[in-house]
Amino acid sequence: KVNGLEFAVADLKLAEAGRHQIRLAEHEMPGLMATRREYADSKPLKGARVAGSLHMTVQTAVLIETLKELGADVRWVSCNIFSTQDEAAAAVVVGPNGTPEQPEGVPVFAWKGETLEEYWWCTDQLFQFGDQGPNMILDDGGDATLLVHKGVEFEAAGAVPEATEDDPHEYRVILSTLKASLAADSKRFTRIAEGIKGVTEETTTGVHRLYEFAKTGELLFPAINVNDSVTKSKFDNKYGCRHSLVDGINRATDTLIGGKVAVVCGYGDVGKGSAESLRGQGARVIITEIDPICALQAAMDGFQVTTLEDVVETADIFVTTTGNFNIITAEHMAKMKHQAIVGNIGHFDNEIDMAGLEKTPGVTKVEIKPQVHEYRFPDGHSIIVLSEGRLLNLGNATGHPSFVMSNSFTNQVMAQIELFTKPGEYGKQVYVLPKHLDEKVARLHLDALGVKLTKLTKEQAAYIGVDVEGPYKPDHYRY
Ligand code: NAI
Repeated sequence: KVNGLEFAVADLKLAEAGRHQIRLAEHEMPGLMATRREYADSKPLKGARVAGSLHMTVQTAVLIETLKELGADVRWVSCNIFSTQDEAAAAVVVGPNGTPEQPEGVPVFAWKGETLEEYWWCTDQLFQFGDQGPNMILDDGGDATLLVHKGVEFEAAGAVPEATEDDPHEYRVILSTLKASLAADSKRFTRIAEGIKGVTEETTTGVHRLYEFAKTGELLFPAINVNDSVTKSKFDNKYGCRHSLVDGINRATDTLIGGKVAVVCGYGDVGKGSAESLRGQGARVIITEIDPICALQAAMDGFQVTTLEDVVETADIFVTTTGNFNIITAEHMAKMKHQAIVGNIGHFDNEIDMAGLEKTPGVTKVEIKPQVHEYRFPDGHSIIVLSEGRLLNLGNATGHPSFVMSNSFTNQVMAQIELFTKPGEYGKQVYVLPKHLDEKVARLHLDALGVKLTKLTKEQAAYIGVDVEGPYKPDHYRY
C-alpha cells in the first residue's frame, strides 16, 4: 500500500513507459474516447464498484481509465498468468497525474509470469473495496465469476471440499483460496454475491460458463454476453487474432512462416482470423473442424480440411482455437516433426494436453526463453511449445491491437452502464446488448478509417422494413 492505494505490480517505475503507450492507444481507441466525451457530465457509473478480471494490457488500461472517468471505482487483475504488460499495470496504478512515489490511480494486482497460487490470490483481492464488495464484475473467461459462485456454493455447504488426486492443480489452488476465505469469514462470498448487480463477460469461453450456470438455475446475478455483440466476436476474435497470432509466433520463434504447413484446429471466429493470419504469411494452412458448417466454410475459403491425425507427422506449426479441451494430446506431440511449433490461442491451456506432455516418460523440457519451451522426446525429436499452452498471442506478444479492442471495450462499457443503471430490467439470465448499441459501436469507429456511410432514403428504409436510423438487420441476421 502506497499513498493509501493497494496494489501488486512488477515495478511502478515502468509507469512512464506505460503512460506513453496508453497515450498512443487512446488515439487508436475512438469508441472508448467518444464514450468518455458522451458521458463526461452524467457519469453513469458513479457509485459502481467494478471488479475487473481481464488481460492487464495497454488497451485494458484505456478501458479502466474510461470506467473511472464515467464515475466508477475500479479494482483490476489479469485473467491470465502471462498476459500482463507490466508497464501498463504500473501506469494504471500511478494514474495519469500521479508519480511512482505518489500513485493515485487504480488498485491493480497483476504482473507477467504469476504462479497459479499468485493468480488466484490476485483474483481474491478483487473483491475487497475497503470494507465493501464490488457491485459489478467485468470478466474475461469467467474466473472472477467462478470464484464468487464457488464461494457461495461452499459457504452454503458450510465447508470447502477436500481436493482429490484427480483434481487438476488449478482447481486445487481455487479450493485452497476459498478455504482460507471461508475460514476468515464464513459468509464473505454470499454477501459479495448479494451486492453484485451484474457481470459483463468478454469471451466465448466465459460466456459458455455463464449459459451453463443459467441453464442449471445457479446464475447468481444478471449477465451480459459482450462476446456475442457483432462488433466484438466478428472483429476482436477474427481480425484481432489475424493480427496477434503471427505476432506471437514471430516474437517467440522468429521462424519463417512462409511455405510452412500450419494446422489450425477450429474454424470459428478465432480460427478464421488465425487461418487468414498464417495464410497472409504464405503458410499452407490446413483446418480441422467438428462442425460441418464451419468445415464447409473453411473448404470454400480455400483451405484443406482434414483430421489432425492425417497431418500430425508432417505439419510445421499447430495452433488450437477451439475453446475445447484435449485437442492436441501428448501422443500427437510425440509424433510431430522435429521442432514443430505448438501453440494455443483459445482461452484456457487445456486445448493442448500440457499435463500429459509433462508426464510423458523420458520427455525433458528446456527453457529457450520465458514462454518458449523446447520439449525433447526420447527418440531425439523435440517440439517448441509457446506460452506453456496458454493463449500465445497474449503470452508471447501483446494481444490484440488497440483499434479492434476499442470495439470490444466500448461494448463492455455500454454493458456495464446497462446493468448498473437498469438493475430492475435484467433477471438472472444471460443477455446480449441490443442491436442499436452494436451499430453504435461500429459507427464510432468509421471516421477513423475514413469510411463514408451511405444514408438510406425514407423510401428505401420503408421498402426493406427498417428505420432510417437503424437497426438495419433483424436479430437473427448473422453477418
Ligand atoms: P467458436 O465457437 O466460434 O469457434 C470454436 C470452433 O472450434 C467451433 O467452430 C467448433 O466447432 C470448433 N471445435 C470444437 N471442438 C473441436 C475439435 N475437437 N476439433 C476441431 N474443431 C473443434 O469460438 P471462438 O469465438 O472462435 O473462440 C475460441 C476460443 O478462443 C475461446 O476459448 C475463446 O474464449 C478464445 N478467444 C481467444 C482470444 C485471444 O485473443 N486469444 C480472442 C477471442 C476469443
